[in-house]
Amino acid sequence: MDKLVIRGGRRLSGCVTASGSKNTSLPIIAATLLTGKGTFTLHHIPDLQDIKTFSQLLNHLGVETSFADNTLKVSSRNVESLMAPYELVKKMRASIYVLGPLLARFGHARVSLPGGCAFGPRPIDLHLMAMEKLGARIAIETGFIDASIPDGKLRGAHIDFPVSSVGATGNALMAAVLATGTTTISNAAAEPEIETLCKFLIAMGATIHGTGTTELEIVGKESLNPIEFHNVFDRIEAGTLLAAAAITGGDITVNGVEPQQLKAVLKKFVHAGCTIDTTETSVTLKSPEKLLATDVTAKPYPSFPTDMQAQWIALMTQAEGTSHITDKIYHERFNHIPELNRLGARIEIHKNQAVVHGPQKLSGTKVMSTDLRASASLVLAGLIAEGTTEVLRVYHLDRGYEKIETKLKSLGADISREKYNEF
Ligand code: UD1
Repeated sequence: MDKLVIRGGRRLSGCVTASGSKNTSLPIIAATLLTGKGTFTLHHIPDLQDIKTFSQLLNHLGVETSFADNTLKVSSRNVESLMAPYELVKKMRASIYVLGPLLARFGHARVSLPGGCAFGPRPIDLHLMAMEKLGARIAIETGFIDASIPDGKLRGAHIDFPVSSVGATGNALMAAVLATGTTTISNAAAEPEIETLCKFLIAMGATIHGTGTTELEIVGKESLNPIEFHNVFDRIEAGTLLAAAAITGGDITVNGVEPQQLKAVLKKFVHAGCTIDTTETSVTLKSPEKLLATDVTAKPYPSFPTDMQAQWIALMTQAEGTSHITDKIYHERFNHIPELNRLGARIEIHKNQAVVHGPQKLSGTKVMSTDLRASASLVLAGLIAEGTTEVLRVYHLDRGYEKIETKLKSLGADISREKYNEF
């Protein structure tokens, strides 16, 4: 297995470029299943384990993929299987994204139930509710979702989500674009990942009104076309790099971003005392003498993202005062806290809120990654901890951060990847 070995205390400075968004890549790759007419060319796709796992899932269905230099080519001409097996789905919950497109194009799909995850229960009831509204019959048997369409074709409907869900909105969109008639989605997720998926589907020939809002209207089409598409930047990676600079008292510029998408996060950096300058495509962060305790509450976009909560907690261990970090999306997403406390942080958990007492001197030791963003928070803590921090089970981090140690090294961090035997 791989671990990251970090010798803390180096101030980060310089420029770095954001990678393509992982969480946007996954639904747009799934959307290629909607047509068998030719080949898609997707640029700015990050070279990550999750992309490999998703490509493997598509390959299992018979789809041809090739990946080189962050460009993924996908051809769904010969789909031979409509079944997403447990072995692949269990590795990545986003595999559920194949449900909507397979059902809409072929009238049938069998997708393994994803099961729980490291930060609590993650139901898929809203995905299934949306498919049923569009006319699908859903049966759960032997650990699989078995979806079919008794009428032969999905038909437009009104879908009102009681909870804002990125995944369920994505699946509903991908099913509705091939349904007969008009579908309306209320309380749709307005995350940039869904906005980009809408743009992608529109470029394929879909008609969607309300892109970027919580009310979407989709007019179904007979068929869609393959396209060439340039993926957007990874807003969570960009936020993580800014937090890495801030925790070390550094100054960095992240290029290749759209600052608008980072608005809620940048606002919090300013509250914490950082100076933020933006251009159309970059963000520059300058650290203050002393970071100030700053509360955040993770909520659906455009609020502060749950995927930045763990990194913010790490940052707040170095801020003057007590900060409260509340997660209103995933109430149990706090696996990083015991590990941060092992490095010397003073963090308590009260229900869905972490209370961070800062500033605390951290000292390096071995810590264990438990999930993607938790791992990122441990790396951030390692950058400021005295001595050496070893972040074990880095495969969690590799699911979502492209060349993270190369990027941090280029900014001046002392970080290296080493092999180890866990047992
Ligand atoms: C996506 C992101 C993930 C991010 C999350 C919230 C991807 C691949 N993953 O996950 O990184 O943390 O958005 O921004 O893009 N819910 C239900 N029933 C459902 C679906 C969701 O109750 O059927 C609830 C969830 O438990 C959670 C909330 O809705 O409380 C939001 O989850 P959702 O937006 O669906 O998360 P994902 O799309 O799985």
